[in-house]
Amino acid sequence: MIKAKNIIHHYGQDIALDGVSLYINRGEFVSLVGESGSGKSTLLSILSTLLKPSGGEVVIDGKKIDEISNIDRFRKEYIGFVFQFHYLIPYLSIYENVQLASISKNKDEIFLLLERLGIADIANKSADAISGGQRQRASIARAVINRPKILFADEPTGNLDMKNSQKVFEMLREFGNEGMTIVTATHDKELAKISDRVISLKDGQIE
Ligand SMILES: Nc1ncnc2c1ncn2[C@@H]1O[C@H](COP(=O)(O)OP(=O)(O)OP(=O)(O)O)[C@@H](O)[C@H]1O
Ligand SMILES: [Mg+2]
Repeated sequence: MIKAKNIIHHYGQDIALDGVSLYINRGEFVSLVGESGSGKSTLLSILSTLLKPSGGEVVIDGKKIDEISNIDRFRKEYIGFVFQFHYLIPYLSIYENVQLASISKNKDEIFLLLERLGIADIANKSADAISGGQRQRASIARAVINRPKILFADEPTGNLDMKNSQKVFEMLREFGNEGMTIVTATHDKELAKISDRVISLKDGQIE
């Protein structure tokens, strides 16, 4: 589903990724682990088409990212992203945050998803008036509302306690079981065991 060949990325003089190659199968749930600064976020951004690498090639579902003519349409169909910093719009409600991202704008569909993620009862609360765990669930809802083929989640359990972190990973696991390809980054090696495969990064390389 995702093929990365010899990905290199520099930020100015800094080398963030130094020749990363990997293959992720359709429906696979992969966790990237590694210390802070090892390149997890950079790799997720590149694999998800949000960042253009300094070198190397990413191919998704047989399509070279560089050669995709309508990248917006491609992203709508393929990519969901849960950011390390959730980026919910603070003054909108949870429902409105998800609705904004939804293509169909179907109210029942949005509520079903919020129910599934356990946040339907707080749908009308504004995003700055809920807990960290609820915020993470809301950003997952926003990322999957259009049923992307691939869900990228960068530290989706950052700042959460063990119980809530476990729940978030179980939710990702469920989407994975339904055929969505999941690529996540986490500091937590224990948590990563819920996924099908763990890829460990160190100083911008796969260990
Ligand atoms: N926007 C940027 N500008 C300059 N350097 C950056 C930028 N983003 C990341 N870096 C550098 O690139 C390297 C990899 O960073 P990256 O954010 O990918 O690591 P990470 O594994 O996600 O870390 P963390 O676990 O702290 O989120 C680090 O040395 C970092 O300082
Ligand atoms: Mg990061």
